[in-house]
Amino acid sequence: MNIPTITLNNGVEMPALGFGVFQTPPDETATAVDTALRIGYRHVDTAAAYGNERGVADGLRRSGLSRSEVFIETKVWVSDYGYDETLHAFDKSAAKLGLDQIDLLILHQPMPQHFERTLGAYRALEQLLSDGRVRAIGVSNFMAHHLDALMAHATVVPAVNQIEFHPYFTQPDVQAANAARGILTQAWSPIGGITFYPGYGEHRRSVLDDEAISSIAESHGKSAAQVMLRWHIQEGRSAIPKSTNATRIAENFDVVDFKLSAEDVARIDALDTGHRGGPDPDERDPLEWNIDIAEA
Ligand code: A2P
Repeated sequence: MNIPTITLNNGVEMPALGFGVFQTPPDETATAVDTALRIGYRHVDTAAAYGNERGVADGLRRSGLSRSEVFIETKVWVSDYGYDETLHAFDKSAAKLGLDQIDLLILHQPMPQHFERTLGAYRALEQLLSDGRVRAIGVSNFMAHHLDALMAHATVVPAVNQIEFHPYFTQPDVQAANAARGILTQAWSPIGGITFYPGYGEHRRSVLDDEAISSIAESHGKSAAQVMLRWHIQEGRSAIPKSTNATRIAENFDVVDFKLSAEDVARIDALDTGHRGGPDPDERDPLEWNIDIAEA
C-alpha cells in the first residue's frame, strides 16, 4: 500500500504525507531531505522563513530523483507581502530551491494588521498561478474570518490551508470553513511537536505521551506518532511531520499497513483542548518578528 495522493481543488495531485523541515537547521536539511526521499516521501514542505530552501534543493539533487517526482511546497513570509514584493519572493524561493516552477506556494500567515498587503500578496500568487510559475496556491494559519476577508476579494479559492493541527488542537471551525470552500486542510505539527517545544508554557504536555493515543498505538502494534499520522491521512488531511532522525523519518512514513477504527478516530478527536500552541495571528503582528528573507 502506498501513501495516498490527494487531488487539490484545481486538479493538481499531491501526496498526502509530506516531509516537514520546520526548525531543521540549514546545514542538516539536505541530509534529512535526501533520507526522506530515499525512504519514499515524495512531498517536501519548507518556507522562505525557515532559511533552509537551499538545503531542500541539495537534498533533492542528492537523492537522484527527477524534479517531476517530488512535490515541493514553500511559503512566502509576511515581510514579502504586497503584490510586487510577493512576485519577487517567488523569484527568491524558486532560485534557492533550484526550481523554475513551485508545486504549491502559500502565504505563511494572514496579517490582519496589514490586510491590504495580505491581499496584494495573494493577488501575486494568483498571477503566478495563471503564468504557470506555480501549480497551486494556498494559505497558512488562516482562521474562518480571514478566509472570509480573503474570499471577498480573491478569484482563486486557495487549494490548501495549512494550520496547527494535532490531537490537542484540531480547530473544528477552521476545518469546517476549509471544507465548505473545497480547501484542503493540511496539518502542521501533526504529531504535536509544538506541545513539547520549549515555550508552550503551562499547557506543555506532549501529545506523544497521551494515554489514549498510547493505548490505541499498543492495540495496533504501532507508535503514537504513527497513530496520529494515520489519523490525519485516514480523515482526508495532508500532514507534514518533521524529523531529522533517520529512524523517526522512516517510522513516520510507515503508516499504511493498519487502519484506525471509527472508535479510535472518535477517541482521538475527543482529545482537543482548544489550546493553540502557535501564535494567534490576530494578537501579534508577525512583522514584529523581524525575519528578513535574503536575496537568492
Ligand atoms: P526529531 O527531529 O529529533 O525527530 P511535529 O512535526 O509534529 O512538529 O513534530 C516534530 C517533533 O517531533 C520534533 O521535535 C521531532 O524531533 C519529533 N519527532 C518526529 N518524529 C517523531 C517520532 N516518530 N517519535 C517521536 N518524536 C518524533
